[in-house]
Amino acid sequence: MVLEIVQYGHPVLRKKCRPVEEVTDKIRQLAEDMIETMRDAHGVGLAAPQVARDIRMAVIDVSHDPECISFLKVNGEDAELASIMPLVFINPEIDFGKAKESDTEGCLSIQGINADVRRPESVKAKLPQLDGGVLEIETDGLLARALQHEIDHLNGVLFVDRLNAAAKLSVKRKLKRLLEENGY
Ligand code: NI
Repeated sequence: MVLEIVQYGHPVLRKKCRPVEEVTDKIRQLAEDMIETMRDAHGVGLAAPQVARDIRMAVIDVSHDPECISFLKVNGEDAELASIMPLVFINPEIDFGKAKESDTEGCLSIQGINADVRRPESVKAKLPQLDGGVLEIETDGLLARALQHEIDHLNGVLFVDRLNAAAKLSVKRKLKRLLEENGY
C-alpha cells in the first residue's frame, strides 16, 4: 500500500525516533509499504518518520545506478549492489570516514528543493535486519549518502539543516513558502 509522505513542517519529521524493540507483522508490513511508497515517489530512500511513524526504520534502493558507488563490502566481503537492494534496516549504527564530499540532495518530504550537502564520502554501518540478522556495510557514493540522509531522518535531522550558510540563505524563502503551503 502506498502511504502518505508527510511534508516539511510536520512535527514527526523533527522527532528523535525510538528503537524498534520487536519485529512484528505490523513492522514487516510497514517495511513493505515503505518500499512501495518510495518507488511510487521515485525516491532512493524513505525513513519511517516520513510516513508519520516515529521508529528507527528506513528503506533505501539505489540499484537504478550500479555505478553510484565505487566499492561495497557486506560483512567484510566484496558484494554487488543489487544483492542488498532494496535495503531495509532498523536501529542502525553508523561510523563515518574522514574525507568529505559535496553532492546534490533532495528529500521526498521537502518538495522542490535540491541543494549540495557536504558529508563524509564513506561510511561503515551496522544495519540490523527484520529477520534478526545484521548487515555490516562499508561503502561510498550515493549509498553512503543515502544511509546518512535516512539515518539523519531517524534523529529528526533534515538535509536542509546541513547546508552551508550561503545555501541555507538561498533556500530560506522556499522553505518558508513550503511551511505555508503545507499548513504550518
Ligand atoms: Ni529525506
